[in-house]
Amino acid sequence: MTTVISVTNQKGGVGKTTSAVNIAYYLAKMGKKTLLIDFDPQGNASSGLGIDKQSLDGTMTDVILETKLLTDIIIPTDHKNLFLAPATSHLANTEVELANANRRFTRLKNAIDNTPNYDFVIIDSPPSLSLLTVNGLIAARYVLLPVQAEFYALEGLGQLLETMKLIRKSMNPTLDLIGVLPTMVDGRTTLSGQVHEEIKKHFPGKVFKTVIPRNIRLAEAPSHGLPVGVYDKFSKGARAYKAVTKEVVERVG
Ligand SMILES: Nc1ncnc2c1ncn2[C@@H]1O[C@H](COP(=O)(O)OP(=O)(O)O)[C@@H](O)[C@H]1O
Ligand SMILES: [Mg+2]
Repeated sequence: MTTVISVTNQKGGVGKTTSAVNIAYYLAKMGKKTLLIDFDPQGNASSGLGIDKQSLDGTMTDVILETKLLTDIIIPTDHKNLFLAPATSHLANTEVELANANRRFTRLKNAIDNTPNYDFVIIDSPPSLSLLTVNGLIAARYVLLPVQAEFYALEGLGQLLETMKLIRKSMNPTLDLIGVLPTMVDGRTTLSGQVHEEIKKHFPGKVFKTVIPRNIRLAEAPSHGLPVGVYDKFSKGARAYKAVTKEVVERVG
């Protein structure tokens, strides 16, 4: 059975892509056949894995517009067990093209359902509560919510939780929050600590034990087209993503 996890937070710059890429990498490294779906028109997950976007035969745009099958656009990566469904900026146009289309909310779900053989599918969502994000939430069994340890961390999350509730009531009753992941935590500042406490209060029992520290290696790795586990596997950032991936697997059970 495939476990589908959508890495979602409608804020930008909170660590969604960094989390999606590195958790997908460590799942693959643990022997799980993993598909990372780049579902953000910014295509950061694709570039972060060193993919040349000029050379692609197909992207998530084709899948969502149903001009190609998901299986046909998936490419292998340099990392064993890790596969990528790439995206380019054209993905943004699908929002308009799909505006009144039939089954517009379930395009991603259908594509994933027709693509068995993966242990995990990780969706890197765009920074919005758009049609694409909703497609991700309908396709997923779980949401992984990265929250940046900063003052405004919890602002706007109510809206995401509300959207999840609506989706649970309508199209995806088993959608569940697998965990909240504090990102860019700076252990030296009291603010970071306070925000971490706030997050735990707000999501009792849901916050991962592992927190992701602010770590320069995590920011550098994508410019080399590498997951941090390859770029610098002994860095604090790499160790944290490895640890949280283990928690993910435990929580899936
Ligand atoms: N733990 C971290 N430490 C340092 N930099 C980070 C960390 N996580 C993410 N970054 C950097 O912060 C920026 C935003 O992260 P990203 O994962 O792209 O967020 P999102 O996908 O939510 O927009 C990127 O430049 C990324 O490299
Ligand atoms: Mg991103």
